[in-house]
Amino acid sequence: MKAFPPALIERLAGAQSVAVLTGAGISAESGVPTFRDAGGLWEQFRPEELANVQAFLRNPDLVQRWYAYRRKLVREVEPNAGHYALVALERLIPDFTLITQNVDNLHRRAGSQRIVELHGNLLRSYCINCRRPATEIDLEAAAEGQPARCPACGGLIRPDVVWFGEFLPEEALTEAYAACERAEVFLSIGTSALVYPAAGLPLEAKRHGAYVAEINLHPSAIAREVDAVILGKAGEILPVLVETLRQARSRNAPAAGS
Ligand code: APR
Repeated sequence: MKAFPPALIERLAGAQSVAVLTGAGISAESGVPTFRDAGGLWEQFRPEELANVQAFLRNPDLVQRWYAYRRKLVREVEPNAGHYALVALERLIPDFTLITQNVDNLHRRAGSQRIVELHGNLLRSYCINCRRPATEIDLEAAAEGQPARCPACGGLIRPDVVWFGEFLPEEALTEAYAACERAEVFLSIGTSALVYPAAGLPLEAKRHGAYVAEINLHPSAIAREVDAVILGKAGEILPVLVETLRQARSRNAPAAGS
């Protein structure tokens, strides 16, 4: 079994409060392209072309089609062992918060409950005028080459995701920072740690005394500042980490009274 830093297992075994940040890397093994790896989502387009309000208002039909492609893609894939390991971890830790940058809904589909969606969710859309939630029928009602519009007011429909230059949902950020303050262990998983404020959360937790471990295919931008870097695939590492934790906890468990 993979050897983890003893301090990580010790801290996890006794932890009441754990926070996790995930990025696109945890969904890579499900077949969802990441943003910045070779062949990633941005490779076909530049962020400024699509994931911002100006691009959307300039070419709503193109942006809506890109998001329709991404919704179709995430509906066709399944959560992977990394997502399911985090569900198991959540059930072992009394105060567990899963903070995700991902908008692919795979944590929710895997069964995670305590999710903070920092960048929104692809499977939700709304009208930019009246903010009415849009249904799949609304999204598909547009004529060929025409952007989908709100049936109530005619406003353009956009995905409920955070675009470059936009603020993150206030409530999600507040919840994420609160989790960083409480966390005894913070795991940063599958993220390049390049996009703030999400990328600042692991070190925010460290400033509050958490033991911070990164689980990533390649060292991220914060690799030199965390307590441990475990290189590899989240879908392979996380199930072993949870099993190692289970064994550590059973060793520490008080002997059943004879
Ligand atoms: N297991 C673990 N880590 C992986 C795996 C894997 N199987 N595959 C890739 N990775 C790592 C890569 O090494 C990389 O560091 O996941 C990271 C993915 O980084 P990005 O593609 O930059 O994705 P992310 O960090 O989530 O991007 C943050 O940027 O474009 C915005 O809003 C978008 O939420 C996104 C944010």
